[in-house]
Amino acid sequence: MTEKTPRLRAALDSLPTYKPGKRAAADGPVVYKLSSNENPYPPLPGVLESAVAAAGAFNRYPDMACTDLVTELSERFDVPVDHLATGTGSVGVAQQLVQSTAGPGDEVIYAWRSFEAYPIVTQISGATSVQVPLTEDEEHDLEAMLAAITDRTRLIFVCTPNNPTGTVLRRAELESFLDRVPSDVLVVLDEAYREFNRDEDVPDGIDLYRDRPNVCVLRTFSKAYGLAGLRIGFAVAHEPVAAALRKTAVPFGVSQLAQDAAVASLRSEDALKERIDALVVERRRVVEALVGQGWKVAETQANFVWLRLGERTTEFAAACERAGVVVRPFPGEGVRVTIGEPEANDLFVEAAAAFRKEL
Ligand SMILES: Cc1ncc(COP(=O)(O)O)c(C=O)c1O
Repeated sequence: MTEKTPRLRAALDSLPTYKPGKRAAADGPVVYKLSSNENPYPPLPGVLESAVAAAGAFNRYPDMACTDLVTELSERFDVPVDHLATGTGSVGVAQQLVQSTAGPGDEVIYAWRSFEAYPIVTQISGATSVQVPLTEDEEHDLEAMLAAITDRTRLIFVCTPNNPTGTVLRRAELESFLDRVPSDVLVVLDEAYREFNRDEDVPDGIDLYRDRPNVCVLRTFSKAYGLAGLRIGFAVAHEPVAAALRKTAVPFGVSQLAQDAAVASLRSEDALKERIDALVVERRRVVEALVGQGWKVAETQANFVWLRLGERTTEFAAACERAGVVVRPFPGEGVRVTIGEPEANDLFVEAAAAFRKEL
């Protein structure tokens, strides 16, 4: 008799695996990690102290309702407490959103290339991905996304600024899009990089959500706030979407450390602003240097830049690594490079210049 193995869902067979940004080597010469859009700064003032204090109570479960954090967020964004839902990173919340809306036979639309978790969470739910190519300018093609809506569409991810291109959607185009999406289709505005935006014509998703019951906004503490390792993000959504998120959450998924660190980060607004400003200055410097070298750089409002290198992608990433920076290649497409500490950005700019000369 042949030995049988446990039967797993067929949906997992062709599941793309989430590729984390490559880690910098632990030994050898200094190598900077510019592959995961992390914040290069240590925790904001007061955050480590809060987290350490919370660590003293590891023997207890965390507050499942994340009461302090939700109260703080509610005041900060002027939204009702029951319109907030937290999760294990915003990717955790994204997965819950798909689980709550789409199953086998249903469709989830998103631009491509965009955040690599979208196809994964869609497939885990048994739903079908409908990927709409970005435009020549690396932007969302909202008209094509509207045209892709069918009566099977349940959710649309709109990532602005978009990972990995950094491109944004402006008010008029986004409002017109939202006005035309059927009201029973959930639109998720993924604003993981919102804090780095400097384009005044880019709307705040939370303003757009207010009078649109089918709009949900995703935010994270991983990027600007620098808490990537603590896994905490949140959604702002109307009922019944917010209630569905609370139902599908892993019980006690968000640790007390993460909750307390997030509250302390929100209370450290001035220091946060300074750090974001410094990263935006560095972003400008890097973009100007690349453009000066002759690169075509997509207009980025995030903490990373995107170079469409096509077939040279892997080679370019290897050259960067030899120069001391680990970047994020998407083979055959391009390279995403996080804006890091100035020394790291210098190494990247130098590597890009040297590569350019050889083209
Ligand atoms: C667009 C976008 N959304 C969501 C996330 C998820 O971040 P986290 O789960 O750390 O909150 C990321 C992380 O890279 C991202 O790029």
